[in-house]
Amino acid sequence: MAFELPQLKYAKDALEPHIDAKTMEIHHGKHHQGYTNKLNDAVDGTDLEGKTIENILNNLDMNNTAVRNNGGGFYNHRLFWEVMSPNGGGNPSGDLADAIKTSFGSFDAFKDKFSAAAKGQFGSGWAWLCVHEGGKLDVCGTPNQDNPLMPEVGCGGTPILGLDVWEHAYYLNYQNRRPDYVEAFFNVINWEEVSRRYAEGK
Ligand SMILES: [Fe+2]
Repeated sequence: MAFELPQLKYAKDALEPHIDAKTMEIHHGKHHQGYTNKLNDAVDGTDLEGKTIENILNNLDMNNTAVRNNGGGFYNHRLFWEVMSPNGGGNPSGDLADAIKTSFGSFDAFKDKFSAAAKGQFGSGWAWLCVHEGGKLDVCGTPNQDNPLMPEVGCGGTPILGLDVWEHAYYLNYQNRRPDYVEAFFNVINWEEVSRRYAEGK
């Protein structure tokens, strides 16, 4: 079973004004489609064929650059679409809110740390919120399409929130103003989905 581009659960203009429709159209339809196609090409006929993307990334040979880049790109973008919502923003609640307070001191302290990871990632990459077994949370950045599921990458654990800071994610609307894009992202975070991933991953 080949990997397939997941459908968005909202319209391409639904995240405006924070993320514009044209960016969504190209980002999902071209970039994510491209990673998906190239991942399928890279695993076709190898012993990775038929495995889940999580299994592939967890056991990745980091020298396998085709699977590293495109498997990361496939997984990372799939997560990214799901942790955003037109009804997003605000603050998390319940267990996740408690875990953020325990791990970072406060929601604002978490937001500062996550934003710093996103703004400070040199060149292309991602900022992550990850959960470790037992529920402790961590923030980190990774270059390119690397992902904390991969061996010895970032903060480890399971990513439950990710922010794409490649220029293709924001340049049309924000040009070089990555900090404005990072700030806007907080208006569309789907905390219900992040909470679900927290409960599953802790
Ligand atoms: Fe991207």
